Amino acid sequence: MIEDYEAVSGLWHTTAGMGLRSLDDSKEGIRKFLERNPRTCFVAESSLAIIGAILCGNDGRRAYIYHTAVHVEHRNRGVGAALVAAVEQSLRDMGINKVALVAYTTNTAGNAFWEHIGYTLRHDLTYRNKTLMEQF
Ligand SMILES: CC(C)(COP(=O)(O)OP(=O)(O)OC[C@H]1O[C@@H](n2cnc3c(N)ncnc32)[C@H](O)[C@@H]1OP(=O)(O)O)[C@@H](O)C(=O)NCCC(=O)NCCS
Repeated sequence: MIEDYEAVSGLWHTTAGMGLRSLDDSKEGIRKFLERNPRTCFVAESSLAIIGAILCGNDGRRAYIYHTAVHVEHRNRGVGAALVAAVEQSLRDMGINKVALVAYTTNTAGNAFWEHIGYTLRHDLTYRNKTLMEQF
């Protein structure tokens, strides 16, 4: 829910390994993403606060995960895996058969997490993109 934006944005900004962008991760950018992907973005809450978040969107064929983060004091308790599992179940329900993500190569811990939960590294592909609107 966009009402969670301030808390989630705060979590992202204090989490190492996030690739945040001024336009995509602005409140309007996230509102647009949530409107398009209402079933595949989740937060994890403790009794007191939001402690984790994940975004996932799809184009009707493939899904892409972004900005998976768990508050440092709540890591290694299954929160990250539960967020990913919620995304995967929703994707299955929607008939989306494959999900991917991009991680910084230098994010050793993040990559170890993804590897551990079954997100394998592709050695046969090269990631390419093009900037359509400059962001900082
Ligand atoms: C990556 C992150 C989301 C994992 O969240 P988490 O709640 O700590 O992960 P979980 O407790 O659900 O771990 C799930 C499994 O992955 C394993 N795992 C978690 N972090 C790991 C690591 N750094 N190295 C190896 N295994 C790891 C856990 O041991 C657990 O294994 P198990 O099911 O066999 O017990 C969290 O560490 C984080 O927010 N990191 C910073 C942000 C980040 O790098 N995000 C990814 C960007 S691409």
